[in-house]
Amino acid sequence: MKSIVSYVSAALIIMATLGCSPQPESATPQAGQTTAAVESVEVSTNAADPHSYSNFDQVVVRHVALDLAVNFERSVLAGSATLTLEHLQPGVSQLILDSRDLMVSKVTAGDAELAFQLAPADHHLGSALIIELPTQLETVTVHYETSPSASGLQWLTPEQTAGKKQPFLFSQAQAIHARSFIPLQDSPSVRITYQARITTAPELLAVMSASNEPDTARDGEYHFTMPQPIPAYLIAIAVGDLQFAPMGKRTGVYAEPSVLASAVAEFEDTESMLEVTEQRYGAYSWDRYDLLILPPSFPFGGMENPRLSFITPTVIAGDKSLVSLIAHELAHSWSGNTVTNASWRDLWLNEGFTTYLTYRIMEMIYGTERYDMEALLGFQDLQADMAVMAPEDTRLQIDLAGRDPDEVFSDVPYEKGALFLREIEQQVGREAFDAFLLQYFADFAFKSLDTATFEAYIKEKLIKPYDLDETRIVSWIHMPGLPDGHPMPKSPAFTLVDQARTAWLAGELNAAALTTDNWVVHQWLYFLNNMPETLTQEQLADLDGAFALTNSSNNEIAHSWLMLVVANDYKPAWPQLESFLKSIGRNKLVKPLYESLSQTPEGKAFAKRVFDEAKAGYHPLTVKINEKFVN
Ligand code: BES
Ligand code: ZN
Repeated sequence: MKSIVSYVSAALIIMATLGCSPQPESATPQAGQTTAAVESVEVSTNAADPHSYSNFDQVVVRHVALDLAVNFERSVLAGSATLTLEHLQPGVSQLILDSRDLMVSKVTAGDAELAFQLAPADHHLGSALIIELPTQLETVTVHYETSPSASGLQWLTPEQTAGKKQPFLFSQAQAIHARSFIPLQDSPSVRITYQARITTAPELLAVMSASNEPDTARDGEYHFTMPQPIPAYLIAIAVGDLQFAPMGKRTGVYAEPSVLASAVAEFEDTESMLEVTEQRYGAYSWDRYDLLILPPSFPFGGMENPRLSFITPTVIAGDKSLVSLIAHELAHSWSGNTVTNASWRDLWLNEGFTTYLTYRIMEMIYGTERYDMEALLGFQDLQADMAVMAPEDTRLQIDLAGRDPDEVFSDVPYEKGALFLREIEQQVGREAFDAFLLQYFADFAFKSLDTATFEAYIKEKLIKPYDLDETRIVSWIHMPGLPDGHPMPKSPAFTLVDQARTAWLAGELNAAALTTDNWVVHQWLYFLNNMPETLTQEQLADLDGAFALTNSSNNEIAHSWLMLVVANDYKPAWPQLESFLKSIGRNKLVKPLYESLSQTPEGKAFAKRVFDEAKAGYHPLTVKINEKFVN
């Protein structure tokens, strides 16, 4: 039976959301806030986080106990979430949660049923789930199931996995998709501990961003606890034919059996990365650090789910050339998971710090030449991205109210953030900057902070003691683009690549005559990424004939080559372009190709056919991000 919220309680909804003030003017949402109608009234997003309807400033969820069955026949998770509440204000009569496409059957407190209402859905934010609290309840249980099209889950058929025999499920909650599989306060400023009981077919293993027991009995019932408080976007689950292999004392890999050995070999330096990062930035807080290798439809390179980073298989290149991804997800254990951005406006606090740490970790493990090459490639990605972005979106802290965080994704929080930190490092010296970071991670451990809090902190810790130019720091954070005189990454290893490209473009040498035998993957990327916009069919055929680029098994090289193929309409590589787009769902690799294909009628028609054929295997996010280019 569905409960109906009466007019009186609907009126209370406004008051609860807007701070208990009954005056009509207080029902007007603040600038940028999104509203959803509940009967004749409106629910507003939280003033502290424009991407959450939840009233965490009044009553906050501290713990979630999940009891969920994984149903592959229907592609749903079904069961319950029991939320432990702390009342921050007296007399709050509603608990407002975030949800998206959830089927809520009932809400209980012990034996009693509570009245609840799902507000009409907002396109970006989903529906506020408004639960009546007759008293200051300590726990509330929501009985629900997910939709087969939940935005944060992908259900794969056996054919879409490496082993082809068992189905696979994985979640991807960042930024605002946790609400599509758990009703909760889906804001990074709310931290919760969690526990879970997950049931599935006994031949499958479930893993979560929590305590995983590598030797657990495979019986289809799995238990997890995450004792440290984390934001909702770090709750993660995967279920499949998974096996575990250790890499080091605290590190290991979960993957499908046929992928396991190659993943362990590729990522064997993970334990050393963990050790060097701890030595510099403070003890690792999360017990184990394992990797989960997903099927190729995973829409990101990696996701820093605590204790268990989720990793695309597309970086298993055979030569460790793309393992900076592991350094990146590991670094999030400090910047992101221990110290967390308070809202998605402040994403640069997660990604900029993490990108900075990634370069540093790569330098500690693989040396300065690698650091220089990766920093310069990253800087060039930033320049390319900023060249086509709206200037206001190139600020580190951006206004996201009313916008979908998935649509605003760019290199700016990553690479501009890292460049800003590199400038401060150069001004105060590495030693002092590392000491600052160590202290920062300790001072804000298990807290969520916003950009203003960071600015106040750096003022005390670095600007005043080192007499830094405060207006410059303010402009890094709040002005579009890059300030004049910003650090310029340089890579001596790329000089000979520039020489080779120049000689080839001038027609002095054909491709086969270039000296490329000792080039590493980064040099190939730099070679290809810096080609002029237009190349002739003969030039492309010369490159492909000499270097077999169409058949490159390195997915980053293949991507850079295919970008040239699309821009110059080089038809011999289109069959490979099609199979690349159909076999990979990682947006960083497929989105630029779809976008570029969409520039010509013929390219768009090809893209539409490929997209339509690939769509059933794509993750919901990959569909959302790319369908606009083909329709
Ligand atoms: N946390 C991000 C992924 C993310 C960001 C998901 C924002 C949703 C919203 C992850 O750590 C990440 O940055 N992944 C990158 C890694 C790369 C920069 C090394 C990716 O997937 O490409
Ligand atoms: Zn990241």
